[in-house]
Amino acid sequence: MRRLMVAGNWKMNGTRSSVAELLKGLKSQEFSATVDVAVFPTFLHVSEAVEALREVGVAVGAQNVATQSGPGALTGEVAASQLKDAGCSLVLIGHSERRQILGEAEGVLVAKFKAAQEAGLVPVLCVGETLEDREAERTFDVVGAQLDSVMDALGVEVFSQAVIAYEPVWAIGTGLTATPEQAQEVHHAIRARLAARNAEVAQGVRLLYGGSVKAANAADLFRMPDIDGGLIGGAALNADEFGAICRAAGS
Ligand code: 13P
Repeated sequence: MRRLMVAGNWKMNGTRSSVAELLKGLKSQEFSATVDVAVFPTFLHVSEAVEALREVGVAVGAQNVATQSGPGALTGEVAASQLKDAGCSLVLIGHSERRQILGEAEGVLVAKFKAAQEAGLVPVLCVGETLEDREAERTFDVVGAQLDSVMDALGVEVFSQAVIAYEPVWAIGTGLTATPEQAQEVHHAIRARLAARNAEVAQGVRLLYGGSVKAANAADLFRMPDIDGGLIGGAALNADEFGAICRAAGS
C-alpha cells in the first residue's frame, strides 16, 4: 500500500509575518497519521518552517536545488547538502514554471535530481503537458518523454526513492482542475511507463496530482486508484484549506 502524500508548494510567496501566520495555522491543524504532509517554502523560509513544523510531523522541502550536491563556487545556488543540513527532506524538480519561464532543460533537471538523491533528499519530479499538447493529443508523449529523460540517464530504480507529481500546465493556477478521470488516465500511463522497465518500482512510486486542487475537489481526485495525493499551490497558502485537503486524503 502506498501512503498518500499532500504537499504545499508555496512558490514565490510569503513575508516574514505571513509565513509566521501560516505556520501557526498549520500547527493547529488535525493531520491524519496515515498521510504524509509536506510544505515547500522559499529558501528564505525553510529554517523557520523546519523549526515550527517539526513537532507536528510536517516535512519541509525546497523548491529548487543546485546541479551539484555539495558546496562550492556556484553563486546564487543552494546545494542539496545544505538543504539537508537545514532540515529539508524533499525537493521539487522540474516544476513547469521552471521548465517554461526559466527555460530549465532536461539535462539540468536530471543533474538536479541526481544531486538531490546524492545528498539524501527525495526528489519530487514534476511532469505535465501544456494545453496545446493536450489539444494535439500529445499528452502521453510529452509526459512520457519527461519521465524517460530521467530514467534513461539515471535508471528507473531512482524512482524507488522519489515522488512524481503530474501537473497539467493548463490546470496550474487557472482554476481548471483535471477531472478525476482525466488525471487518473495520465497517472495510470505514468505508472505503466515505469512498469515497462520495473514493475516493482512502478507499484511503489507515489504519483501526486497538482493543478487547482482545493478542499472541494480533493477527495474525488484522491479516490482514484493511481492518485496518491496532491501537490497544492494557491490553496496551500491558507492553513485551514490546506488542512482540509490533507484530511480529504486521510478519509
Ligand atoms: P495551483 O494549485 O495554484 O493550481 O498550483 C499547482 C502547482 O503548481 C503546485 O506545484
